[in-house]
Amino acid sequence: MIQIAVMGFGTIGSGVFDVVNTNREILRKNAGDDVEVKYVLDIREFPGQPVEKVLIHDVDTIIQDPDVSIVVETMGGVEPAFTFVKKALEAGKSVATSNKELVAKKGAELLALAKEKSVNFFFEASVGGGIPIIRPLLSCLTADDIEEVTGILNGTTNYILTKMNREGMSFEAALKEAQDNGFAERKPEADVEGYDACRKIAILSSIVLGQRVDFEDIYTEGISKVTTEDFAYANKLGWEIKLLASSQKADGNVYAMVAPALVKPGHPLYAVSDVFNGIMVHGNMVDDVMFYGRGAGKDATASAVVADVVEAAKNPGVTVYGGWTEEKKALSDIATSRKQFLVRVKNEGLEAARAAFGEFDAMDACVEGEFGFLTKEISEAEFAEAAAKVPEMLHRIRVQK
Ligand code: HSE
Repeated sequence: MIQIAVMGFGTIGSGVFDVVNTNREILRKNAGDDVEVKYVLDIREFPGQPVEKVLIHDVDTIIQDPDVSIVVETMGGVEPAFTFVKKALEAGKSVATSNKELVAKKGAELLALAKEKSVNFFFEASVGGGIPIIRPLLSCLTADDIEEVTGILNGTTNYILTKMNREGMSFEAALKEAQDNGFAERKPEADVEGYDACRKIAILSSIVLGQRVDFEDIYTEGISKVTTEDFAYANKLGWEIKLLASSQKADGNVYAMVAPALVKPGHPLYAVSDVFNGIMVHGNMVDDVMFYGRGAGKDATASAVVADVVEAAKNPGVTVYGGWTEEKKALSDIATSRKQFLVRVKNEGLEAARAAFGEFDAMDACVEGEFGFLTKEISEAEFAEAAAKVPEMLHRIRVQK
């Protein structure tokens, strides 16, 4: 019998409980033994619900029980999750978590502790929900030099951008609809300002680089400034606007960034819409590899957590993946990163724009009082310098290659 404990009975934690009960036979076959939830830790009571029988309120009940070999952490946030996970690893238990804040902030330390104790710290569900991406990067793609990881890593913002594009909604109206449909939180900043995607790309970057990438170092822009006018130009070009999180090696530099970008039809992420996530990985040997699926939601995310439980059960006493070290990886300043930009300018700024950016073909997207144009491929620093000379500039969006 593989006895596990689940810390946090929210959406994902209750999903884990459901997956273990629904897929009992499959798990027995794949893990080699029955998987049983011995404890669920939560501060709340759940009277009359099946979970009541295994509900506890003291983490030490789990830590001190030698029969519990694997602990699932689905509490979210850094504390008390960090303290509890650390205690579990110190007690020689493997941990599977869906908590991106915890992995982005404390991943290196927890991976080192897991190695010291010959157990595992797994976190497949922390990025891309139910999409397999962590284990493929740590295992299937380890023969490659991964030169780029670019993803749509946030379902809420992808849903909002899809609504804005297909139904001509404003950002505010699309956000309200997402909230009414339960896709966006009442406090939406973490999603719409890109902080959630930033933590996820920090985790993927750390794996690819083998060193700790601090999410605080990643340039992050959300989607709250994307407008229906921006979509008028995107539609005219036949392109999509997506919130892209990317990590890229270029000319000896390593850049990481979260920002809205125009995506062309030939790009693998172009067709990733609604709440779906997509992650494109480019390796020097394998070329482009694309991962697609549900990046959030109870069942999909819980499926990834329970798969980690199975992986831990199959590897007792062996730390399967090193992950990344605590040595910090310094990212390059994005000022030297090169991109093309779509720029929108008030009509009266035409001369100033031509003087600052050079000749261009002005685009008319039937938006009154303004025009748009595409720059050449230039560095962020060159763009900022030119843009400062055009006070009539309304907005700019980067173009994904
Ligand atoms: N808020 C996240 C999203 C949930 O919208 O993608 C998954 O991390």
